[in-house]
Amino acid sequence: MKNKIVELLDEKIECVDKSRIEELIEIPPKPEMGDFSFPCFQLAKIMKKAPQMIAAEIADSISENNFISEIKVEGAYINFYLNKVEYIKQIIETASCSNYGYSKEGEEKTICIDYSSPNVAKNFHVGHLRTTIIGNSLYKIFTKLGYKVVRINHLGDWGTQFGKLIVAYKNWGDKEAIEKNGVLELMNIYVKFHEEAKKDDSLNDQAREWFSKMEQGNEEALEIWQWFKDISLKEYMRIYDLLGMSFDSYNGESFYRDKTQNVVDILKEKKLLVESEGAQIVPLDEYDMAPCLVMKKDGSSIYATRDLAAILYRKETYNFDKCIYVTGQEQKLHFAQVFKVIELMGNDYAKNLIHVPYGLVSLGGEKLATRSGNIIFAEDILNQSIDKVKTIINERNPELKNKDSVAKIVGVGAIIFNDLFNQRIKDVAFNWDKILNFDGETGPYVQYTYARCASVLRKSGVDEIPKEIEYSLLQDEYSMNLLKEISRFGEVIKEASEKMEPFMITRYAVLIAQLFNRFYHENKINVDDLNLKMARLKVVVITKYVIKEALSLLGIDCPEQM
Ligand code: ARG
Repeated sequence: MKNKIVELLDEKIECVDKSRIEELIEIPPKPEMGDFSFPCFQLAKIMKKAPQMIAAEIADSISENNFISEIKVEGAYINFYLNKVEYIKQIIETASCSNYGYSKEGEEKTICIDYSSPNVAKNFHVGHLRTTIIGNSLYKIFTKLGYKVVRINHLGDWGTQFGKLIVAYKNWGDKEAIEKNGVLELMNIYVKFHEEAKKDDSLNDQAREWFSKMEQGNEEALEIWQWFKDISLKEYMRIYDLLGMSFDSYNGESFYRDKTQNVVDILKEKKLLVESEGAQIVPLDEYDMAPCLVMKKDGSSIYATRDLAAILYRKETYNFDKCIYVTGQEQKLHFAQVFKVIELMGNDYAKNLIHVPYGLVSLGGEKLATRSGNIIFAEDILNQSIDKVKTIINERNPELKNKDSVAKIVGVGAIIFNDLFNQRIKDVAFNWDKILNFDGETGPYVQYTYARCASVLRKSGVDEIPKEIEYSLLQDEYSMNLLKEISRFGEVIKEASEKMEPFMITRYAVLIAQLFNRFYHENKINVDDLNLKMARLKVVVITKYVIKEALSLLGIDCPEQM
């Protein structure tokens, strides 16, 4: 409907373009003032004429049509009163289209998202859970807007730490314990290495040697490294399965080990490299940044070198329009440096490299069961959530079928929802009672509302709701408020994509659930009047669809019953 008003105004207004008209349109603070309003101050400035006059002239020139019932001029504002029935019809028809909310904006465009990216032989901790959840949601959002999205898991599977791990394994490792306890055991021997290296510095030299053997392709070194990697991946895969998430590429840091020399060559050729205490750096003080270290004294590459190589590789392989990196904000400087070096190399696509940072997870005194010491594994948190939901379901609905699969959907969904509830940069507070509250602004609440929609439809005894319904029966306040919000779905997705903020969708899902519950309490659905029943059921159908879609954009499933 807003588009239609934009069209009408665009026909009458010459001095500003259509997109500007769209931006200027407001929703009046009170319904008595109309459904949409157009202020003429901006036009007045350009046309050098009183805004009231302009408003009156435009209003006069708009001829009658079936979707506006009235146009009133109030000072400098043109207020539009929609023909409600036509408005309702429009919303329902649009929302009933397949893939409602989809847009063509991204057609023929590719976005790479680099996210999750845990570090091999280390635990997948709550921070990695955040990048995984945010990255996956951005993938869903951009896909909905028609982009081709490449999901890249840039595994931390290369670096000097593997030299240390090999030394640790050779001295104190126990094959069976590692097979049995996985990453936890690898972390134990890594800690042991640091304790022992404090007493015996030669261990550090050995570690450097082993890493350089890895870089030179030594078979024994690579075999042990590969084994560590397989063990770690097995654990990460369990988490991705729990979350129902996957990737298109697992090319991590090790993938670029034979591609870093090329980076060094280019930088040399472009005279960007400077020697500093034996190492090779790109000075960035002109840009108020510390230099970007590219090659260490011993000739080995570092994290940044591999990121530079990855960018060149991705541009060539995927020809991305944007490449997005989702990591904690502590890596802000790292990405600023890397992106700057890419720019200095003469690549104008550097402006399409985007770091998307996020805040910490604060456990705020919560007791989280840990496997050992204070190490928190994301997998344990997910499993605890599932268990807690199982207990809640057993109390609330002991007869429920498929309890286990529902508990998984709700338990995992609750964690994702909480993670995406606020702006990325805000810290995430962890409080079980809040996260799992079926009546709060939570995942379970929205999923419960979805299940309610499903149950209303099941119990209605209606197999098929006709395509055309009696739209005039939906003019009550509760139906209107819900429908208006449903009509904003596309706008919300677009805004969330522009700001790369999934929380906008989270909030939207809560709002739809709240408006639906109000609609449901005020309007009896199973009424004798068949026209009224069908009209209301139609609202249930589109609400159910929008909730499912919105949650799916966050990476959350919906149970039909709970
Ligand atoms: N492995 C890194 C970490 O856990 C994140 C990698 C992010 N991606 C990248 N291309 N640097 O902190």
